[in-house]
Amino acid sequence: MKITVVGAGNVGATTAQRIVDKELANEIVLVDIVEGLPQGKGLDICESTPIEGTDTRIRGTNSYDDTSGSDIVVITAGIARKPGMTREQLQETNAGIVKGVTEAIVAKSPQAIIIVVSNPLDVMTYVAYKVSGFEPRRVIGMAGILDTARYRTFIAMELGVSVEDIQALVLGGHGDSMVPLVRYTTIAGIPITEFLDQATINKLVQRARDGGIEIVNYLKTGSAYYAPSAAAVQMVEAIVKDKKRILPCAAYVQGEYGLRDTYVGVPVKLGRKGVEQILEVPLTAEEKAALTKSADDVKSNIAKLKL
Ligand code: APR
Repeated sequence: MKITVVGAGNVGATTAQRIVDKELANEIVLVDIVEGLPQGKGLDICESTPIEGTDTRIRGTNSYDDTSGSDIVVITAGIARKPGMTREQLQETNAGIVKGVTEAIVAKSPQAIIIVVSNPLDVMTYVAYKVSGFEPRRVIGMAGILDTARYRTFIAMELGVSVEDIQALVLGGHGDSMVPLVRYTTIAGIPITEFLDQATINKLVQRARDGGIEIVNYLKTGSAYYAPSAAAVQMVEAIVKDKKRILPCAAYVQGEYGLRDTYVGVPVKLGRKGVEQILEVPLTAEEKAALTKSADDVKSNIAKLKL
């Protein structure tokens, strides 16, 4: 198993470190355009392996030649959000970056599965899909796991219970237009409505929706990376170990939920082949309308791109 992480910034380097710590690959390549950055961070992570006792080889590079034959490529390249900047404002800059990165990756690793983390997530995943020419099951976006994790964190904080016992599902586009399925949110299998009133649930949903900007406002010079990298690595692990996990990911819809030709967050079965199935859970009219609106937002942003 060879895994390439493109972008040796906060998300990329932390993703690489988590993959090494979990020993999910024999070989990891960390790529960036900045000279020395991936080499330095790669060597630093490598020097942690005798202490952690993991045998993953990791090195940093500025050359895509070193990425040849990767099984999985995680794209985190791009600029991060600054305070006052929306994900959409990132779109133009990051679309150019993701396009160039995808072309370089595809030339060296035509069989890879691509996981996109760069924002705005759903649009960037579409860019990687179009530019790669890969079948849709091999191009997947990381968003739903992160949005769900934020939502689960806030519910656990509110109730003072373990995060492990909160099950939840968030659909739709990343962040502002996410669609949390409150009906399917349970605490140890018990519906959340048995524990919290609607006003409190709404408050927690809104905090999850704004989860990204809450971190940006604290950090001031960048955006979240611990939870985003953990989410990306959960996807990597599901693929590497062929776990067939059911996880909310940005996937290419072809009629599911009445949606077509876009990327949007839906529950998928994730295994060695990538997206092995999109699960269609029954939605109320209101949930369906929110998901359709979210997908329409993604589509209108895609339409602004010159691909
Ligand atoms: N090829 C390779 N690397 C690139 C390229 C490129 N064409 N353009 C930029 N990069 C690198 C930068 O040099 C930088 O090291 O991408 C890295 C981005 O790192 P950070 O600025 O630390 O940003 P990070 O917090 O990691 O976020 C990266 O993930 O969550 C999303 O919104 C976030 O789009 C952003 C991405």
